[in-house]
Amino acid sequence: MIKTGVSVFSYDNIRAVEWEESRLKLVDQRVLPSRIKNLFFDEVGDVANAISDMVVRGAPAIGITAAYGVVLAARDRFNSDGVNWKKTIGKDLDLLKASRPTAVNLAWAVDKLAQIIAGLDPANDPEPALLEVATQIHADDIAANHKMGQLGAGLIAPASGVLTHCNTGALATGGYGTALGVIRAGYASGAITDVYADETRPWLQGARLTAWELVQENIPVTLIADGAAAFLMKQGKVQWVIVGSDRIAANGDVANKIGTYSAAVAARHHGVKFMVVAPASTVDMACASGADIPIETRGQEELLVCGDQCVAPDGANAWNPVFDVTPAELVDAIVTERGVVENPTAEKMAEMMAN
Ligand code: MRU
Repeated sequence: MIKTGVSVFSYDNIRAVEWEESRLKLVDQRVLPSRIKNLFFDEVGDVANAISDMVVRGAPAIGITAAYGVVLAARDRFNSDGVNWKKTIGKDLDLLKASRPTAVNLAWAVDKLAQIIAGLDPANDPEPALLEVATQIHADDIAANHKMGQLGAGLIAPASGVLTHCNTGALATGGYGTALGVIRAGYASGAITDVYADETRPWLQGARLTAWELVQENIPVTLIADGAAAFLMKQGKVQWVIVGSDRIAANGDVANKIGTYSAAVAARHHGVKFMVVAPASTVDMACASGADIPIETRGQEELLVCGDQCVAPDGANAWNPVFDVTPAELVDAIVTERGVVENPTAEKMAEMMAN
């Protein structure tokens, strides 16, 4: 049944990153859903640590956070170094860019601010000009998500079931979400009736964050263990897997949260469609293929310890790559705010990015 009278933007009430009273405010995503705790930042080093430590995560959200981090850095450098601030701020930009390697949105946002800095008069306070650009990056991301929500939902037949991986919602972006934006829009229109979320080991972004966002918005959600995804598909319960991305290569290969590749392989085997939803700022035309994308490996303790408890014996080792690459041939559609690319190839990606 198609719902009528429900705006696709009805389910849009959560913001993880905000500029408030001249400071950066982040929802601490490490403690959700048991606590909603806001942290405030006015120092760029603390912002870089917040990105590395996963206070804020999700490719677009860390890009926006880094943009506000540049504003804070410029304020500090201008106050401490006067007209020399443009010479000294480079260290801060490098620090932000190094805080997480895979999500290209981070470097994209910092480079955008660096270009503005290059054109500023060093004698003038840089904060207003940089804040305007950071705020625009944030607003553009939300607008892109709304657009992708409509485009992605338009690909889905009425009353479909979908599976998503990791968290790609308001918490991972400026607001609304990429893959979760499509799910919000699809639920509002009646295209989507059943949402399954992978728990997403080891950080449990699916269980802690995606399920929390959907419950907040009264969208029914069923959590599954990551290992249950193929069996769910075999039961015919989902028609689409919908995921976000941290970096899309020029040929359409997609880096995303570890486990995405297995979901794509299983989807192809079961005839389930596979959709990737990401803003154009996630597409890195400088990476010819997924082999060029740097994949972050995090500490072993994220696997060996769960909460306060050791879940493996002393002496066991762990390998913890936190992203994987899904080859373009397993992707049915890449949705950006510039349009939909079906069965992506280098030529189709180049055409979409030229728009
Ligand atoms: O390690 P994370 O939580 O930052 O990983 C996030 C993801 O992999 C998301 O799927 C991706 O950033 C897209 S978010 C819109």
